[in-house]
Amino acid sequence: MTQDQAKELVGRRAAEQVEDGMRVGLGTGSTATMFIKALGERVKAGLKIRCVASSDASHRLGQSLGMEMLSLKELPELDVYIDGADEVGPRLALIKGGGGALLREKIVTSAAAKFLVVVDSSKVVPVLGRFPLPVEVIKMALPVVERRLSQLGLRPKLRQHADGSVYLTDENNYILDCACGSIPDPERTAAEIRSVVGVVEHGLFLKMADTALVAGDDGVSELKA
Ligand code: A5P
Repeated sequence: MTQDQAKELVGRRAAEQVEDGMRVGLGTGSTATMFIKALGERVKAGLKIRCVASSDASHRLGQSLGMEMLSLKELPELDVYIDGADEVGPRLALIKGGGGALLREKIVTSAAAKFLVVVDSSKVVPVLGRFPLPVEVIKMALPVVERRLSQLGLRPKLRQHADGSVYLTDENNYILDCACGSIPDPERTAAEIRSVVGVVEHGLFLKMADTALVAGDDGVSELKA
């Protein structure tokens, strides 16, 4: 099975778990896109749900599929948030933000009663940190935050597009991708980063996910926090 096939499989499986009347948070990224498309098919077939997305891109995708897309102001409580991850570690600790939407993702998941993660098996790791940890930063604070994260040994690098222009999040902030390597104590790393003034949010999602659906050659398996 290719990685894209695994993403599609797990996206479909997650869409099957959504029930009539649910308030659903839609994630961001390639796996979440597969999930949203599969959910869109169910909506076309008559499923009645209301949704809030964690990025402008997913909001537009939902709209294009005829889904009822709302804001958190209109729908501040959700039954479930369904999204991908860049890494899934022990106890469902996650690294997210490879697609740049970590801040809104954390906000939308905090509004949801349950967080279901959808990944292909390549994302499951024994220790977090192979994937660079994204940190969202207020623009004017960049020099200060960059220096401080470097002093913490986190090796931050400003995210750029392929053409060299600086990447901006939906909230108009910068992202520093931290090639910190293995993160044996995610709580401690999260606390260190959070203590830096000018950091808006980081991509460590700890004690947030309830279940992960993992697609691999043997089909879809379920991990519990
Ligand atoms: C988006 O900001 C991310 O948190 C994504 O959920 C994560 O990067 C996984 O993306 P893929 O499903 O595209 O690998």
